[in-house]
Amino acid sequence: MAELATKHAPIGATAYTHFEATPQTGSFAAQINGIQLADAINNDDLFNDIYAAWLKYQVLFFRDQKLSPEQQLLLGARFGEIQKQGYAPSLEGYEGVWAQEYPQLYSGLVTDIDWHADSSFRAKPTRGSLLLALDVPDGAGDTVWADMCAAYNNLAPAWQNFVGELSAVHDNMQRNLQKVLDQMEPEQYKQVRQYLPPNEHPVVCTHPETGRKFLFVSELMTREITGMNRNESRAVLDFLFAHQTRPEYQCRFQWEPGSVALWDNFSTLHRGIFDFGQSHRLMHRVSFNTPWTPA
Ligand code: SIN
Repeated sequence: MAELATKHAPIGATAYTHFEATPQTGSFAAQINGIQLADAINNDDLFNDIYAAWLKYQVLFFRDQKLSPEQQLLLGARFGEIQKQGYAPSLEGYEGVWAQEYPQLYSGLVTDIDWHADSSFRAKPTRGSLLLALDVPDGAGDTVWADMCAAYNNLAPAWQNFVGELSAVHDNMQRNLQKVLDQMEPEQYKQVRQYLPPNEHPVVCTHPETGRKFLFVSELMTREITGMNRNESRAVLDFLFAHQTRPEYQCRFQWEPGSVALWDNFSTLHRGIFDFGQSHRLMHRVSFNTPWTPA
């Protein structure tokens, strides 16, 4: 994408000092150097520049950050409403800072972590997340993101028109929680179903702030295309799943202690790479909602 092709494009023009955004791929994701995120809690100029860069690049990476749980919550709250509960327990005294600690999280609850947008099975999916690495396995445990604007833009017009008319059912209980489901009694299943119902979203959404179109389906969460029989739905989804995660749309990030990733969870997918066996990996995560739903 030509508009993002310039390396080291200065983004901030305001007085505190501009920061540099180094694009990480041909379409999305940038590394931001020379700032501490914690400073953006009380500095509107800095925060506004980070926000603008987040909208532009969709995923931002920061190195060598010092961000306490309290600061991570305060920063997250500048983006939106903190999501109190998630798939990992909150740190004691800091509800909304989820401690994603491995190998403990492999307990069987979460199984097959494939490409996804977090909580897309909800009526109001997570808008974004701030993930901070505290302890990472040597050379392993990367995370990969994929740009759903680029994936949409690179579909042939006939496909864009076709999928632009479709909706899909997102369901947390088809793969993500499969191991748990297998062990449940029918009554228990019914109860869990009541607080984790599937939800429907358009396959192509328009970003509420940038106006860019993006694909909103994913292998982990999207169960079926509405109004199609199983074979039809499978064919469409198999194509979209393969297309949307082509290497051209991906960006892989290697964590170091103190690294932070900030991503737009509407217009990107992500996937943790669990290639580190029983090694220790500790991440603190804050996720937030904004007034919008993907539409
Ligand atoms: C996730 O899938 O949300 C977790 C990403 C990671 O820990 O790398």
